Amino acid sequence: MSKTINLISKEVSECTKCSLAEHRKQPVFGTGSVNADLMFIGEAPGAEEDRLGVPFVGRSGKLLDNLLLEEMNMDRSACYISNVVKCRPPENRDPKSEEIEACRSYLETQLEIIKPRVIVTLGNFATRLLLDTKIGITKLRGKKYEYLGYSLIPTFHPAAALRGRAGVIENMRADLRKAKEIIND
Ligand code: URA
Ligand code: SF4
Repeated sequence: MSKTINLISKEVSECTKCSLAEHRKQPVFGTGSVNADLMFIGEAPGAEEDRLGVPFVGRSGKLLDNLLLEEMNMDRSACYISNVVKCRPPENRDPKSEEIEACRSYLETQLEIIKPRVIVTLGNFATRLLLDTKIGITKLRGKKYEYLGYSLIPTFHPAAALRGRAGVIENMRADLRKAKEIIND
């Protein structure tokens, strides 16, 4: 099992399938437990993630860690965390659709190996990719969907909460509690 995740991790470490490979310091594959019940999917690595090779280690990551602890009583090591694209887009621009397509098989393989009970998508990019929709996160969040037999709860990206939009943190908290209910079901 963990050998397989190591194999894809190695593939990603050498990947040049899209032009993001030219700008990255290193790809950010994903971290956590391969036996996790809960998997978070973000958008793309930022500067800190690119530097350290670990997802969600900047300001968004600190907020995610806190919410995870406060609402689910969980440490990040008990879940699995990855992103839609594994390499940092220059100047933190949005990932392009061709980059997302080039990278999606890695995420799909990660899901097949980890088989989480619940996927929490963080923000529009992860949610739209998995639910194959153009509907925005504000409409989609907080409800339970099915993706390849997994339960999926979309929520806001922590960066949206850091931008201070009213109600975002409270909604994220409620969505994590919902994910917890599904895990404990
Ligand atoms: N934002 C993301 O979407 N992913 C990260 O890993 C860090 C910040
Ligand atoms: Fe490969 Fe994904 Fe990085 Fe593009 S973003 S180079 S597809 S690992």
